[in-house]
Amino acid sequence: MVIRVGIITVSDRSWNGERADLSGPALETLINKTDWEVAAKALLPDQIDLIRDKLIEWSDDKALDIILTTGGTGFSPRDITPEATLAVLDRQAPGLAEVMRASSLKLTPNAMLSRAVTGIRGSTVIINLPGSPKAAVENLQAIINVLPHAIQLLHNDPAAEIGH
Ligand code: MTE
Repeated sequence: MVIRVGIITVSDRSWNGERADLSGPALETLINKTDWEVAAKALLPDQIDLIRDKLIEWSDDKALDIILTTGGTGFSPRDITPEATLAVLDRQAPGLAEVMRASSLKLTPNAMLSRAVTGIRGSTVIINLPGSPKAAVENLQAIINVLPHAIQLLHNDPAAEIGH
């Protein structure tokens, strides 16, 4: 089974054309090194309803295996990606966010400023990543190896037993 991934870049400045989106392409480059498929990409402003609606559409209609968001996890007033995500999750999966922050803390103390959340909607895993290309890639790298097993478990795949 090919893991189908969606990438949402959340950035007012990229949305306004003030800054190129480098994080979405950086994540795509990382995913292209795996046997996963980038099945959808979007650029959104830091607007809670737009983020929430896109997460719902890609989980419920496209049934993507993983949705990565990049950006909007910090402390600035417009950083609301975690709140948009929490609004759509059926179940939180805090271990993924815990590991991302713990491993990132070895690289920078600023890691503790990411409010990223991770969880499940239907059979889709939703993962918030920070906004800089470097931080987004570092955070995804910290958890990427366990994600296929997470997807197997979500799909009740008998092969998941092999990982136990
Ligand atoms: N995690 C890693 N691995 N590397 C980083 O450079 N930057 C941090 C943090 N997580 C960083 C990181 C910074 S500076 C911030 S403010 C938070 O992520 C939130 O980033 P965001 O507001 O772009 O989502």
